[in-house]
Amino acid sequence: MQKKRLIPFKITGIDSLGQGVSKLDEKVTFIPKTAIGDEGEAMVMAERKGVTFARTVALTLAAPDRITPACAHFQDCPSCHFQHLPYERELALKSESFERLFRKFSMPELEVVGAPERYQYRNRIQLHYSLRTRRLGMRDPQTFEITPIPECLIGTPEIATGLRALYQNSAWLKEAPADKAEGHVELYWVSGELRKSWNRPYAEGGFTQVYETMNRRLKDLLTEHLTLKVAGAGLLDLFAGNGNLSSALKYPKRLCIDVYRPARGGDFFDQDLYAAGALKAVQLELAKRALTVDHIILDPPRSGFRDLRVWLEALKPRIVVYVSCDPHTLARDLQGITEYEVTRSILLDFFPATFHFESVIFLERKG
Ligand SMILES: C[S@@+](CC[C@H](N)C(=O)[O-])C[C@H]1O[C@@H](n2cnc3c(N)ncnc32)[C@H](O)[C@@H]1O
Repeated sequence: MQKKRLIPFKITGIDSLGQGVSKLDEKVTFIPKTAIGDEGEAMVMAERKGVTFARTVALTLAAPDRITPACAHFQDCPSCHFQHLPYERELALKSESFERLFRKFSMPELEVVGAPERYQYRNRIQLHYSLRTRRLGMRDPQTFEITPIPECLIGTPEIATGLRALYQNSAWLKEAPADKAEGHVELYWVSGELRKSWNRPYAEGGFTQVYETMNRRLKDLLTEHLTLKVAGAGLLDLFAGNGNLSSALKYPKRLCIDVYRPARGGDFFDQDLYAAGALKAVQLELAKRALTVDHIILDPPRSGFRDLRVWLEALKPRIVVYVSCDPHTLARDLQGITEYEVTRSILLDFFPATFHFESVIFLERKG
C-alpha cells in the first residue's frame, strides 16, 4: 500500500463546512477540526482540482481559543465540527459564513439565535453499518470509513440510551437485516417513544425538526413576526411536513403542501414540489379552494427551491418566509428576486457542534 504523504499546515481561515483553510506555498489545503492559528503536520487524504484535503497528525502550535472537546469520539467522528472551540466562537464562525455568502445581497443586520444546549439535543440520529467490517457508526463522506460512536453526546438522553443498547455486546449485529451487508439505522424519539428503523428513507414516520427547543424558538419567532398580519390572509405552506411551522398561526385559510404518502385531507395537499407542472397543480388546487395566497412559508430540504422566483411571479404573495437548512441553496434561490425586499434575516442554531444551522429570511413585496 502506498504511504500517505505528510504536509505542513498553518490555518488562516475556516470555510463554510467548518474546515480549517491553510494556504502554504500557494497551495490550498482543507483540514477539519482545526482553528485559526493552528500550525502542524497533516496527512493528505485526497487531492482534487488542485486542492488538498488532509487530516491533522500533529499540532506544533495550538490556536489560543482551542478547548478540550467534550465528546470522546470528536477527533475521529465526521459528524461534529466545532467541539474544539468555545460555543460563542462556533456561533461567530457560523454568522461569518452566512455573511460571506450574502455579501452581495442587500440585507438587514443578521440576527443570531444561539442554542441553549450544545449537546443532548437531537431527537433523531442516523448511523451507518457494515456487516463486512462489523462496524456501526458515523460514515466519513470521503473515505466511507465508519466510526463507532457509542458515547455520542449529540442525542437526547433517550437517544443516547438507545445508542448504548445497540452497541452493548454488539447487539446491533443481531438486529441488522442479514440480507443487506451495508445500510443504515435511524433512532428517533417520537410521541414519548424510542423507535428504530433499518434501511428506511430518512425521517421515517414523517419529518420532524431535530431540536425541539429551537423549533419552539423558530415558531415563536414566526408568531411574533406574523400574528398581526394573518387577519384575512391566505397562507401557502410549502414543504410543510405536518404543518409544524404554520399550525399555531391561525390563518383563516391555509394550504400545506408536501409529498404526503398516503395523501392527507383537510389543509394538506400531496404534491411533489420539484416535479414539472407542480406550480400549475398547486394553482388549480388553490382555485378549487378559492384561496388567494397572501403569505408563503417555505422550508425545503437542503436542495432548496430553485423555482422560487417563478412561483413568486405567478402568485405574488405580500410576505414570504424562507426557512432554510442550507444557506448555499438559499442564496442561489434568492438571486434575481427583485420585487421583494429582505426585511429580516435570522440565523438559528438548530445544529450546535456541527457547521449546520437554519436561516430564516423574511421578504416583503415592494410597493
Ligand atoms: C426541512 S423539512 C420541513 C418540514 C416542516 N416545514 C417542518 O417544520 O417540520 C422539508 C420537507 O420537505 C418535504 N419534501 C422533500 N422533498 C419534497 C418534494 N419533492 N416535494 C414536496 N415536499 C418535499 C419533506 O417531506 C419534508 O417534510
